[in-house]
Amino acid sequence: MKVLVATEKPFAKAAVNGITEIVEKADFELVLLEKYTDKAQLLEAVADVDALIIRSDKVTKEVVDAANNLKIVVRAGAGYDNVDLEACSAKGIVVMNTPGQNSNAVAELAIGMMIFMSRNQFTPGTGKEISGKRLGIHAYGNVGRIVGKYAKALGMEVYAFDPFANPEIFKEDDVTVVDSVEALYSSCDFISVNIPATPETKKSLNYSLLSQLPKGATIVNTARKEVINEEELVKLLEERDDIKYITDIAADNQAELNEKFGKRVFGTPKKMGAETAEANINAGLAAARQIVDFLVNGNTKFQVNK
Ligand code: 3PG
Repeated sequence: MKVLVATEKPFAKAAVNGITEIVEKADFELVLLEKYTDKAQLLEAVADVDALIIRSDKVTKEVVDAANNLKIVVRAGAGYDNVDLEACSAKGIVVMNTPGQNSNAVAELAIGMMIFMSRNQFTPGTGKEISGKRLGIHAYGNVGRIVGKYAKALGMEVYAFDPFANPEIFKEDDVTVVDSVEALYSSCDFISVNIPATPETKKSLNYSLLSQLPKGATIVNTARKEVINEEELVKLLEERDDIKYITDIAADNQAELNEKFGKRVFGTPKKMGAETAEANINAGLAAARQIVDFLVNGNTKFQVNK
């Protein structure tokens, strides 16, 4: 059996070593395609492999069609909006993610981003402290929950909105739940966006919602750029010179945002949330273990295209 690791943005070396060890211990062969620059390289590499480990790499119908033996794709990470689930399901390919494995790294980045924006992006000028401010967590999943824990330790008041979360976890974490997304956005100084990109959530952070933010609020998006309506964000930032926006991966209109709004906006050039050795090791090794467990024992615990 052949396992391909195809990562346009490569894993840390220690993660690749760990993946190799797990794959070879199962008597499978590891094929490595890192830092590829052309889709054609992926199409060629995927042709004869049985399993595929990816990060944010796009597994489109074209990729699925080019894969003659593929049985399983594991997205080493949380969001699987980069995988065409329908195309995979149509060919009987199992798709999994590795939930929770890189959440701490993303949560730490969200906290760092709040401080970065509150301190003028570390340039001269009087900033603000985040302690004592209200943080609204939009989706209380693996990342949101850790953001809340760290924020509380920093003295923030933490609120959350997540109709899909088990209500017990709010009690356990002693976090105040609000009953609508509008209530969250209209009452918090910082919003940590942690929702997945789905047809329902894409562009859902629109003018109508964001214009309810209180004076001086900052939106921290470590989720996906697709969930914010970027055109309407421009309108909001033009009308409200008190609002700030930081996003882990530059907006499609980031150049325009930077030019018009300077230090009130920031976008990372590549997605940075999971860019730690620890997150790479956790997610990469989990992906390799899940592949072996599936190919050897048929375990589909983390399948997302059931
Ligand atoms: C995720 O969905 O797990 C994060 O966005 C990390 O993505 P990455 O593996 O491409 O850094």
